[in-house]
Amino acid sequence: MNWKSITLLFATIVSSITVTEISAKNVKIDTQNTSLVLEAEKGKKLRHLYYGGKISENDAAALRSASGKIYSAYPDYGMITLPETAIAMIHSDGDMTLDLVVDGISSTHDNGADITTVTLKDTHYPVVVKVNYKTWKDENVMETWSEITNNEKSPVTLTRFASGYLPIRSGNVWLSSLHGAWGNETRLTEEPLTRGMKVIKSHEGVRNSRFDHSEVMFSLDGKPQENTGRTIGAALCYGGNYKLRIDTDETDSHHFFAGINEEDSHYKLGKGETFVTPPLALTWSDEGLSGVSRSFHKWGRNHRLAHGDTPRKVLLNSWEGVYFDINEKGMANMMKNIAAMGGELFVMDDGWFGVKYPRNNDSAGLGDWTVDTRKLPGGIQGLVDEAKKNGIKFGIWIEPEMVNSKSELFEKHPEYIIKPANRKAKFGRGKTQLILDMSNPEVQDIVFNIVDTLMTKYPEIDYIKWDANMDIENHGSQYLPADKQSHLYIGYQKGLQNTLQRIRAKYPDVTIQACASGGGRVNYGILPWFDEFWTSDNTDALQRIYMQWGTSYFFPAIAMGSHISASPNHQTHRIIPIKYRTDVAMSGRLGMEIQPDDMTAEEKEQTKRAIAEYKQIRPVVQFGDIYRLLSPYDEKGAASLMYVAPEKDKAVFYWWKTRAFRNEILPRITMKGLDPEKEYVVHELNRIDTKPLSFEGKSFSGKFLMENGLEIPVNHKLAKKNETDWSSRVLYLTEK
Ligand code: GLA
Repeated sequence: MNWKSITLLFATIVSSITVTEISAKNVKIDTQNTSLVLEAEKGKKLRHLYYGGKISENDAAALRSASGKIYSAYPDYGMITLPETAIAMIHSDGDMTLDLVVDGISSTHDNGADITTVTLKDTHYPVVVKVNYKTWKDENVMETWSEITNNEKSPVTLTRFASGYLPIRSGNVWLSSLHGAWGNETRLTEEPLTRGMKVIKSHEGVRNSRFDHSEVMFSLDGKPQENTGRTIGAALCYGGNYKLRIDTDETDSHHFFAGINEEDSHYKLGKGETFVTPPLALTWSDEGLSGVSRSFHKWGRNHRLAHGDTPRKVLLNSWEGVYFDINEKGMANMMKNIAAMGGELFVMDDGWFGVKYPRNNDSAGLGDWTVDTRKLPGGIQGLVDEAKKNGIKFGIWIEPEMVNSKSELFEKHPEYIIKPANRKAKFGRGKTQLILDMSNPEVQDIVFNIVDTLMTKYPEIDYIKWDANMDIENHGSQYLPADKQSHLYIGYQKGLQNTLQRIRAKYPDVTIQACASGGGRVNYGILPWFDEFWTSDNTDALQRIYMQWGTSYFFPAIAMGSHISASPNHQTHRIIPIKYRTDVAMSGRLGMEIQPDDMTAEEKEQTKRAIAEYKQIRPVVQFGDIYRLLSPYDEKGAASLMYVAPEKDKAVFYWWKTRAFRNEILPRITMKGLDPEKEYVVHELNRIDTKPLSFEGKSFSGKFLMENGLEIPVNHKLAKKNETDWSSRVLYLTEK
């Protein structure tokens, strides 16, 4: 990951761009297999002509004759316009119109990517908007964003500032989107687009994926299919408030807009200032939803995720095992256990800090990141040494953007919290939690220093779990001036990005997990600085199948924290055998979140075997191509997906029974993504049956596996006393 290539709000504009004089001209912007075509005639509106599979120059030139109504590529408000627009502003004289026309096109290169920039100029006011498209030759995702510059004598107010717009020809278009709640994140919703406006948005300020997600897919050929059908994927890469709008009106197209949510965020742009929107990532595939996912995963690993090329360690996190009950003996015991099971990393979660206000529960201590030596007499160094003794790495939990009113930081600096000037702040978690104002550079320094101090003192820290358990719930910045209070949401994100950028510049190697009360920060806006995310605080294996299914639409398994936890599960109280819990966790970035002392010797032995086997398949899971096969949302009694190595010489197939009805006929799953010509040997992993599967060790052609599939027995063959209603399989396919 090149930290410098990430587009920051207000990033300095590349000045070496050469503007080409153009007359009537179609601009074709290609990725590996897709094309976007614009009509960019100097002095005229920039128009969108095409987005889809890659087309020839000849087809591109004749596009207009084959198209219906043509829409502006970046609709502006005020003069004959769509009802919904991408950009709107109030000029310094109060005028509310824009009339942007093409001024020039230029291209530049940035770290292996090509950036095409169309410069738009208002016909009356000195306002310049650059619309950018970033592509890579071997990716199928393109990023688009705009840069809005005010050259008027006084500030203008931006009232709408989308990252991008796409008209989608109507027909039988369906929308797939992710929604949820705490403990039930990323639930899939599929619906046909009908007349009216569909809005998906976040107004939380911090945990922007807790309820709804800023990524969607459009299936152009009717009801979404996993492996067939033309599908567009869109992911707004932003960690703050966003708004996706899909307007279906009397025209022949659905009008899709995505960008920062402008509600309560009107932005004053001073003379000479430039506002840079976050990128909107777009992709198109004729291989259905899974095709879109594969493109996002590859681009994500290569360009939008920290260390996307590095295998993730198998870890034990202390949270569900001990919660706030942190002590030296307990930590050492957990480290010994995870090391014995073959794990590679131990992460000490919440509860280790606070001197005057010890963090014994969630109502005190945030802000005071000093180790509590009553709990940990040897300090962090003692734990780092203990990890080393066990041959594993050490990681630590922090929640640096937050503070409790019961903390020394708050006592010293009450001015650092987010709250309106004339009101008392309302509290969040623990009835004392508050949020620090990241728009304030002094606060940015404090947050940077939390990480800097830890990493300077204990350079062996290998992993940081960076949590965030509150949103902007008291609107008000004690730092921003009165006339810029509406900059708070955007300023917060900008401050956070600056801080993360500084941290990454100094500590490029440390692994950082984005956690926000579980899956509250699962987005490509934040991921460039993070290696992974905590998918959900809900670790129930059955519910995880549904949540991880949704997450996999846009995010690769390498980034998806997926832990084996206790039974009964702490969130759902469901009792699930260790085999099933492990088989689900093994489909993401495998970890554990359990008190090993509560596991039986047999469970530990089984887990040890599973971890060893996971290490074998880790490259396929973490770097392979996903093919989702049978959706749990179809309620057919089972769910199944697979990962295939890019060389198609290895694959991992997962099958989970999702309900137990006697004599229900479950579908036989046909595999996908294999090489039809290759022969694959099938080997079951994490096996518990008393007898091997009938096809164990046998080989089959890719063609047969994809056309017929293997009959998966409904239940496990076990000794009577061990039988349960749970059943799952992990099959490893290797080329013969
Ligand atoms: C949040 C996280 C959990 C855990 C707790 C600690 O809820 O999502 O995983 O770290 O905070 O307080």
